[in-house]
Amino acid sequence: MECHGRQKTHGKDGMRARRFALDWLCATRFPLRRTLDMNDIRIGIVTISDRASQGLYQDLGGPAIAQYFQDVLDCPWQAVTRLIPDEQPIIEATLKELCDAEQCCLVVTTGGTGPALRDVTPEATLAVLDKELSGFGEQMRAVSLQKVPTAILSRQTAGVRGQSLVINLPGKPKAIAECLDAVMPAVPYCIDLIGGPFLTTRLERMVVFRPKSA
Ligand code: MTE
Repeated sequence: MECHGRQKTHGKDGMRARRFALDWLCATRFPLRRTLDMNDIRIGIVTISDRASQGLYQDLGGPAIAQYFQDVLDCPWQAVTRLIPDEQPIIEATLKELCDAEQCCLVVTTGGTGPALRDVTPEATLAVLDKELSGFGEQMRAVSLQKVPTAILSRQTAGVRGQSLVINLPGKPKAIAECLDAVMPAVPYCIDLIGGPFLTTRLERMVVFRPKSA
């Protein structure tokens, strides 16, 4: 069963095992989980950019995040997208909406993580989180620093609000896969732990980790 250790199964057997694992998790571990249906995996994708939100340039980050999950996930999921300016009250309201009303188990932001005057995404994120998971930002910066020295300029963070995991990414489209690849192996188990749906990945693209004791 996939919730014990790494994912091992493919095809029809794999799907049966995943459905069994999901039912088992619903029945035993997460009686309060709000999402019982595998078809109900909602991922919030928030582009935070003054210029893109004014139509001065095209939003490349949001579509790149959607494409990433399209490539990596093998369970059905829906994107809930937003394109907003670098305004802290708007960012906070959008994150709350996606976590609480839209019931996204995962919300990924892109942009506004740097040191510029208008960059306030980490402040807005921290203001709405129940718990910060600082290891996400540390890991994304560590991996990104192998690619680009300016990765040190990103103050990206992550954490939990209710039953949603929120992750900040930098605004550069090429940072999206670099950063998500760095943390994705831990994302499905984090979502398990907060009572969210059971995410599965294409094994040839991404092997996720769930402890044997889970
Ligand atoms: N991380 C990765 N993986 N790749 C990048 O190109 N760009 C950096 C950094 N992190 C970058 C990266 C740069 S140039 C900046 S200014 C910061 O992210 C903040 O970007 P943001 O303000 O668009 O969020």
